[in-house]
Amino acid sequence: MRAKMTLKTAAVAVAIVCISAFSITVVAEDPYRFFNWNVTYGDIYPLGVRQQGILINGQFPGPDIHSVTNDNLIINVFNSLDQPFLLSWNGVQQRRNSFEDGVLGTTCPIPPGGNFTYILQVKDQIGSFYYFPSLAFHKAAGGFGGIRILSRPRIPVPFDDPAGDYTVLIGDWYKLNHTDLMSLLDSGRKLPFPNGILINGRGSNGAYFNVEQGKTYRLRISNVGLENSLNFRIQNHKLKLVEVEGTHTLQTTYSSLDVHVGQSYSVLVTADQPAQDYYIVVSTRFTSTVLTSTGVLRYSNSAGPVSGPPPGGPTIQIDWSLNQARSIRTNLTASGPRPNPQGSYHYGLINTTRTIILSSSPGIVNGKQRYAINSVSYVAPDTPLKLADYFKIPGVFRVGSFSDRPTGGGIYLDTSVLQTDYRTFVEFVFQNDEDIIQSYHLDGYSFFVVGMDGGQWTPASRNTYNLRDAVSRCTTQVYPKSWTAIYIALDNVGMWNLRSEFWARQYLGQQFYMRVYTTSTSIRDEYPVPKNALLCVIMLCSDGHV
Ligand SMILES: *[C@@H]1O[C@H](CO)[C@@H](O)[C@H](O)[C@H]1NC(C)=O
Ligand SMILES: *[C@@H]1O[C@H](CO)[C@@H](O)[C@H](O)[C@H]1NC(C)=O
Ligand SMILES: *[C@@H]1O[C@H](CO)[C@@H](O)[C@H](O)[C@H]1NC(C)=O
Ligand SMILES: *[C@@H]1O[C@H](CO)[C@@H](O)[C@H](O)[C@H]1NC(C)=O
Ligand SMILES: *[C@@H]1O[C@H](CO)[C@@H](O)[C@H](O)[C@H]1NC(C)=O
Repeated sequence: MRAKMTLKTAAVAVAIVCISAFSITVVAEDPYRFFNWNVTYGDIYPLGVRQQGILINGQFPGPDIHSVTNDNLIINVFNSLDQPFLLSWNGVQQRRNSFEDGVLGTTCPIPPGGNFTYILQVKDQIGSFYYFPSLAFHKAAGGFGGIRILSRPRIPVPFDDPAGDYTVLIGDWYKLNHTDLMSLLDSGRKLPFPNGILINGRGSNGAYFNVEQGKTYRLRISNVGLENSLNFRIQNHKLKLVEVEGTHTLQTTYSSLDVHVGQSYSVLVTADQPAQDYYIVVSTRFTSTVLTSTGVLRYSNSAGPVSGPPPGGPTIQIDWSLNQARSIRTNLTASGPRPNPQGSYHYGLINTTRTIILSSSPGIVNGKQRYAINSVSYVAPDTPLKLADYFKIPGVFRVGSFSDRPTGGGIYLDTSVLQTDYRTFVEFVFQNDEDIIQSYHLDGYSFFVVGMDGGQWTPASRNTYNLRDAVSRCTTQVYPKSWTAIYIALDNVGMWNLRSEFWARQYLGQQFYMRVYTTSTSIRDEYPVPKNALLCVIMLCSDGHV
């Protein structure tokens, strides 16, 4: 097979595949849900000034995806923007199917005027997640929305059905549009401090959540912003945490909750106060200037509008946040996506076979600001890594382009791919030697957050790990000058993006791909390339046709 790279992401050629590669990739008996989405530009005014937002079916934020464990989601995305576009599914594992992940390393961009039908299965998952546009700096313009995966009818959920179930997307926001922000980064500059915080696409007092006195509601809170950790709280009301990215937690009550970039949490809120309006407050954490935005919790028979000052919350305190993070634990007796208890998988008794230590650093390359993990600042090749791997196209990436340990050397550009073996159990340590909070997301997986603490990680840090009831999730924070350790069972073959959720850093190279490798070519281990895959490479099949 010979292959020739053709295109930059600006113009994408479609199709051309060897027919023999196909087979059915979805399981027939699980239900299907169909979505037709049209992605367009449209005027939005979240901070009072007109901006060009990215809308899905005319909506900002985009529509929620409601699904049930094991559903097949068939999402046909029409790109009506004037540039290539992709959606990615934060937290949806896409087992055996990294082709559908919708990041540049796995999926060719949908060309302007084109469409692509994602075929996802929310196999063995429950919980609260979100989708977002992964290319360029589109995330700064919208295109995101909530994803919820409900338990199947006969699987017990460890709390009563709430009277209402709300998606709450919070995030920092700029008045500058995504192309201007991207130009700043492309020219080697840093982004300014954001202009505000949005709650479901609205600025202060724009988002309303209706409740009835005496009833309990579920709020699925995701931080879809670009860089800031946010604290979430509701005047005079408590938050009972019940779920974190697919894990039912011990139901602990908090007066406020830190939500780091990329993370999702479900809380129950009981409307147990005199009937009136109450502030919902979201404010930045660990910033010298604190940005605050409010929404409104409105009782149905409300006696009046919000009053008094919005409640304050933690600002720069790290210990408060670290202690809260450590208090978030798995309810071992509750069911997850299956009827058996979440504690039946004893992750703490499995020996890890490999430790990978990851450390970020900023640096200047060719006169421009870049960010790296273990000295490598990621650059995307023209051909998605997964397609290069599948079609055995040489020269796109090198296994071994990435070190297991911080090198201490200077930053350089490369297409970093970490090679790992299918069915191994590994330990990752995020060592943050920088003075900022960070958060990292891994596609295709959820992992056990076994420990976090200040200072330098050493093998002795393992003595402090929670090997009993750590939460399994897909996005973890790493505090300034601190470390976070995770355990991952590598049971999902594919090419999976591990990235900083600090979006400018992700854009400037603080990410890499993990290739979870097996010699098996069985579809029990990995599906073949989907038959509708867009191909931004030109390929010659062995029988000579393109
Ligand atoms: C998407 O929306 C645009 C603008 O409303 C419209 O011109 C276009 O026909 C729509 N495309 C699809 C596939 O619905
Ligand atoms: C962003 O704003 C600039 C002007 O500052 C404008 O030239 C550009 O077209 C805008 N981009 C989008 C996508 O609206
Ligand atoms: C584009 O949409 C059409 C239906 O309008 C569908 O048949 C086709 O498979 C889609 N293309 C891709 C690449 O998914
Ligand atoms: C844990 O889940 C069980 C359901 O299996 C529930 O009865 C119990 O209240 C939960 N415990 C806590 C502390 O959340
Ligand atoms: C893990 O390693 C320890 C010490 O090497 C060994 O005693 C134990 O049997 C191993 N456990 C498993 C499940 O392999």
